[in-house]
Amino acid sequence: MKRPYSYIAGTGHAVPAKVVTNDDIAAMGVETNDAWIQERTGIRQRHIAEPGESLSSLCAKASLQAMARAGVQPGEIDTIIVGTASPDHLLPSQAVEVQTALGCSRAAAFDVASACSGWLYGAIVGDSMIASGAADTVLVIGAEKLSAIVDWTDRNTCILFADGAGATVLRRARGGQKGIMSTFMRSDGALAELLWRPAGGAAEPFTPETHGTKRQFIHMAGREVFKHAVRSMAEATDRALDMARITAADVDLLIPHQANVRIIEATAKHAGISMDKVFVNVDRFGNTSAASIPIALNDAVEQGVLKEGMTVLFAAFGAGFTWGSLVVRY
Ligand code: ACO
Repeated sequence: MKRPYSYIAGTGHAVPAKVVTNDDIAAMGVETNDAWIQERTGIRQRHIAEPGESLSSLCAKASLQAMARAGVQPGEIDTIIVGTASPDHLLPSQAVEVQTALGCSRAAAFDVASACSGWLYGAIVGDSMIASGAADTVLVIGAEKLSAIVDWTDRNTCILFADGAGATVLRRARGGQKGIMSTFMRSDGALAELLWRPAGGAAEPFTPETHGTKRQFIHMAGREVFKHAVRSMAEATDRALDMARITAADVDLLIPHQANVRIIEATAKHAGISMDKVFVNVDRFGNTSAASIPIALNDAVEQGVLKEGMTVLFAAFGAGFTWGSLVVRY
């Protein structure tokens, strides 16, 4: 079988209504300021869910938009894949909650746990399922409510992470040139503890004592993560371009994981792609982990930056570590 196996038929995103600026975080008593955050990360503001606002509701909203754009009914979805590190419940999966909310009664639904690479890994799994004949139409979501697992007194992390959901409908490509042209994914668990939640899982179940230790929250060695992110995103862009048999000059738009504008700039520089061909919205949304690429994708569509026929390079990096890339003719 010859690529493309699948194409992006529809996109959508949803974020909580509440906007939290850098000044708002400083006003909460966190020892930081707007100038530092903007200079070191590029972030100006982010959307944060209200405590009762579920991840499921954000996923459903983003998915309904993507499905409407794709012209797909709930009964036509064969598979739902949700990339998330902050599901509403640890058991069962986020994906089955989304399935129920959408009424996709025919679908198989499961989560992908690969942090910020979650949507990209999910898209590769969805594309592979379509290639194998296991599915024709796959709903791939990246969604996070990171505000629930962030220590709001830790200035290393609370200034970065945010909430939101992005959804994409992948459909079987039936001839033509439109679709996923190459995929690349890698992981390295040896450095897992540079970005992790030590407690809350089966190895260290949550107890009343955990509360004081804050080990249930995200812990991150920022400088180390930064170095690995730059290196891995560089490998990811190289590999996807090689496998699609194209060069940077053929790329119309780079949509990278929105973690930090300095990582994005380093990735673009390595790939030889000028910043006017790079989509950046980390300034408005912060780092929404698995949701960041599909939110950026839909934002680019809605702003008219991404147009049909363009060649798009996606690159992700996340906890694990996990990293990967896609080349898509949109
Ligand atoms: N406000 C003000 N000052 C701060 C803050 C803050 N929020 N955080 C740290 N500082 C201080 C530090 O204490 C340090 O002070 P010192 O020089 O007196 O010791 C100084 O600023 C520099 O600190 P660094 O940690 O070296 O700052 P750096 O330039 O590395 O930026 C950051 C920190 C933004 C976290 C950066 O390392 C980064 O972006 N890392 C990657 C994080 C990331 O992208 N994670 C997610 C990727 S994977 C995923 O998305 C799940």
